[in-house]
Amino acid sequence: MAFPNGFLWGGAVAANQWEGGWNLGGRGPAMTDVTTGGTVTEHRKVTYIDKDGNHCTMLQHEKLPEGAHYAVLDEYHYPNHEAVDGYHHYKEDIALFAEMGFKQFRMSISWSRLYPTGLEKEPNREGVELYRSVFEECRKYDIEPLVTIWHFDTPLYLEEHCGGWLNRETIDLYVRFATTCFTEYKGLVHHWLTFNEINNTIMFLDFAGGEHADQEYQDAYQHLHYQFVASAKAVMIGHAIDPDNMIGCMICGITNYPATCDPKDILACQHQWEKNIYYCGDVQVLGAYGSYATRLWKEHNVSLDITDEDLELLSAGTVDMYTFSYYMSSLVTTHKVTDQVAGNFSKGQKNEYLEYSDWGWAVDPDGLQYYLEMMYQRYNVPMMVVENGLGAYDKVEDDGSIHDPYRIDYFRKHIKAMEKAIENGVDVIGYTTWGCIDVVSAGTGEMRKRYGFIYVDMDDEGKGTMKRSRKDSFYWYKKVIASNGADL
Ligand code: BG6
Repeated sequence: MAFPNGFLWGGAVAANQWEGGWNLGGRGPAMTDVTTGGTVTEHRKVTYIDKDGNHCTMLQHEKLPEGAHYAVLDEYHYPNHEAVDGYHHYKEDIALFAEMGFKQFRMSISWSRLYPTGLEKEPNREGVELYRSVFEECRKYDIEPLVTIWHFDTPLYLEEHCGGWLNRETIDLYVRFATTCFTEYKGLVHHWLTFNEINNTIMFLDFAGGEHADQEYQDAYQHLHYQFVASAKAVMIGHAIDPDNMIGCMICGITNYPATCDPKDILACQHQWEKNIYYCGDVQVLGAYGSYATRLWKEHNVSLDITDEDLELLSAGTVDMYTFSYYMSSLVTTHKVTDQVAGNFSKGQKNEYLEYSDWGWAVDPDGLQYYLEMMYQRYNVPMMVVENGLGAYDKVEDDGSIHDPYRIDYFRKHIKAMEKAIENGVDVIGYTTWGCIDVVSAGTGEMRKRYGFIYVDMDDEGKGTMKRSRKDSFYWYKKVIASNGADL
């Protein structure tokens, strides 16, 4: 059996998708609180009031027009407001995770629950105590919390009034927030991730274009640089507060393949790895920008605010482990794309050897083995797969049961792929499936896109009782954990 003793089996959620309670307990809003529900064909929108008082929407990642302000508007549904109400159900949810035998539970701390605008000097005590209670609940069952400090949720105030991550001062505000987390939860939490899928900012650039493309690249690389510095500072502080802390990066891990054996495709694929995957991992694990970074910046006339002190911090604040999400692979080609697919922050040629989920994501367990082996060779630090899963439609039968063999099949194949990588020498120390309990989809805002072992009675319009039910996969995963991966 390949899985080592003490392997950290578990599941993952994020505050804005699980917790809800968006305006309870002194919490301030984040961008997701002004983001509407969408569907696979209809994008989620951000709502605001323009300078003339009109109610308006815009696509996520667009800039707020001059004189406008973000607003929650009566005529829209905001799925993240209540999410699946982890705020009130966390004890019940953690008990269910314990019943499955979880060794680890990955969740995030909402920055605006601790610092409502991001600018406060002292944290909101009610928020601090809420998470303490969540971690104590985990410890009660010997579940190790794995805590993401930032999961796409900068306080809205910082985004609207202070320039968000394009302002260098955001670094220190994040560091204050992270320091609070390390200090308050010392002894309760030992495993931390500084930024969720930090490389998304670059991946979104694949959708950039037109006359503003260079500006979008400029902003994205600058934003990332400040996050790298913030991460490095947080790592150093986290280690100083508790030398037992193990702190990781978290990369959106998409395996790239060249679509043909045309050397031009091979080269384009290598460049895709550099831009989308290595760019962030190299800085966070190796402590410096890769040699290809200069080429990437030059391609879009990017000129960054990087100081010598920043470079020293990057080198000193490297992470202890490499963690990543893995959902799919992607084909890269310089030829005409004949059958385009778009997945999680990626688009490209459809791979005829693979099957695709109902949301068009390539299902590729071999790609997980490939990714693990490749990244371990590159970084040689412990690794964790901290998100992996299948977004699918589930049907509740008349007797309340939920049969999800497609999910079991997906996990079985991916766990086997991970096992092969371990047999080939990769030091994988943990695995947390995404959305171990159904949560609001980050990409589409849907509830019907379900990932969980636990079903939550809530629909896309916000109707439902929030009742939790065990799917067939719940009992299957329990067996997998009990046998330490032997009984798949
Ligand atoms: C990752 C995110 O990108 O993918 C999660 O870290 C997200 O927050 C997950 O939920 C799955 O994506 P989606 O769009 O299906 O929710």
